[in-house]
Amino acid sequence: MVIVALDFDTCEKALNLVDTLGETVNHYKVGLELFSRCGIEVVKEISKRRKKVFLDLKYHDIPNTVKSAARVGIEAGVWMFNVHALGGYEFLKQIAEFNKEYSEKIGIERPLLIAVTVLTSMDENDLKSIGIESSVEDEVLRLAELSKKAGLDGVVCSAREVKLIKENLGEDFITVTPGIRPTWAAKNDQKRVVTPKDAIKLGTDYMVIGRPITGAPNPKEAAEKILFEISS
Ligand code: C5P
Repeated sequence: MVIVALDFDTCEKALNLVDTLGETVNHYKVGLELFSRCGIEVVKEISKRRKKVFLDLKYHDIPNTVKSAARVGIEAGVWMFNVHALGGYEFLKQIAEFNKEYSEKIGIERPLLIAVTVLTSMDENDLKSIGIESSVEDEVLRLAELSKKAGLDGVVCSAREVKLIKENLGEDFITVTPGIRPTWAAKNDQKRVVTPKDAIKLGTDYMVIGRPITGAPNPKEAAEKILFEISS
């Protein structure tokens, strides 16, 4: 399944792309840039078009503050949102419980809750600089395990880590993977890229794709090409 990253600086550009892609794409990611520009209104506008929104704000704060922020997304009907696993077990558990209880209370389907493990922009030296001595892989798995134990639905990770996570935490534990590049698209600033076809082979559940679609001369054609590549 493909989630298109709406990394735009205006609401209009984002909604134009959603309209252009039409029936081809059903899942969209709203991240920090678009949310800082447009707020929750853009999420509501995308949802009005019967599309599913992954609100990628990577919450990491005291549980009470994150619950208050998460409430806004839950009320707007987001399909999925995320927090940093580095917030710790008690934090993760509290947000997972709040997500379930608050969704039930207002009578809507519970959004999926996933965790960011180690950002793909960080390497072993970065981990060392914050006092973590383990390898990136070990740290990803440790934080994924913690997230599962706390009741979360899955993690954001590199497609290369999917196998490790599925083997240790089960097929049902969701993996959301950015850093996807078809062979015909530019890598941009992504370093460890995987093609859509390989991401599927590696077992990823949802691949996040931005610029190969949003920056293409014909975004709809690019999306169709990627979907074809996945299905064949
Ligand atoms: O344009 P591109 O396909 O590189 O977009 C990838 C999206 O996934 C961006 O919104 C980026 O912020 C996000 N992302 C990422 N790597 C992570 C987490 C999120 O590229 N580890």
